[in-house]
Amino acid sequence: MLTVTKLHKTFNSHGNLVTAVDNVSFTVPDGIFAAIIGKSGSGKSTLLSLLGALDIPTSGKVEVDGQDITKLSDRKLIRYRLTQIGFVFQGYNLIPNLSAIENVMLPMEFAGVSTKQRRTRAEDLLEQVGLTADKLSRKPSRLSGGEQQRVAIARALANRPKLILADEPTGNLDSATGKLIVDLLHHLAKKQNTTIIAVTHDLEIARQTDLTLKLADGKMTVASSSAAVPEPAVHAAKAVHA
Ligand SMILES: Nc1ncnc2c1ncn2[C@@H]1O[C@H](COP(=O)(O)OP(=O)(O)OP(=O)(O)O)[C@@H](O)[C@H]1O
Ligand SMILES: [Mg+2]
Repeated sequence: MLTVTKLHKTFNSHGNLVTAVDNVSFTVPDGIFAAIIGKSGSGKSTLLSLLGALDIPTSGKVEVDGQDITKLSDRKLIRYRLTQIGFVFQGYNLIPNLSAIENVMLPMEFAGVSTKQRRTRAEDLLEQVGLTADKLSRKPSRLSGGEQQRVAIARALANRPKLILADEPTGNLDSATGKLIVDLLHHLAKKQNTTIIAVTHDLEIARQTDLTLKLADGKMTVASSSAAVPEPAVHAAKAVHA
């Protein structure tokens, strides 16, 4: 269970204080696929970075199964990011001098998985995201934007994270490939109890998720939630809206 309480993030931009995430509270139970929607600049990527412990909030808490990840020691933080979270960056952040398959194998290498096992799993994951076998040994610069995006998704799944944080995971994909990815994420949520939080501009995708959270100027409201999400998740966020 992910519980976010009064999360606040301000940036100092040339002497001006920019509030990117404004006193946000919400709960996402395990196995829920949540979408975050909102205009450009509304704070979506900043919020996702805070949830993934890639950035430190100005104030507030991010609790994963009761543990406040904003307070972890550096060593624990590295372990947490490596084993518990799969992060799909808005700009993919693939390692340019590694091939597609090596990019997917890398987090497994850090986690101590044997070479043979990580190659097999990387091949399997890349197949699941629809990357054809002839592209596995290509460097990112020789892949299309959508292909790089799929490698980034496969990499995020590599260590079987409990929480997947994805920034526009289908932003560069055609509708058929986008559907393949969304179906894969739904499958992980339902069959493996993975919690998925995906930023999307695609309202069709948001409509199919269990919970849709909307950001506007850093403030959050619940746009919709299904019966799969227990009341507390909605209450917490509604309270912020009130
Ligand atoms: N490092 C930073 N320094 C200063 N301001 C920042 C920084 N990062 C983000 N911001 C500001 O915080 C606000 C939220 O940015 P963020 O990237 O979270 O938006 P977003 O909703 O992800 O937008 P998009 O849909 O365009 O990706 C914006 O006003 C942005 O300019
Ligand atoms: Mg963004």
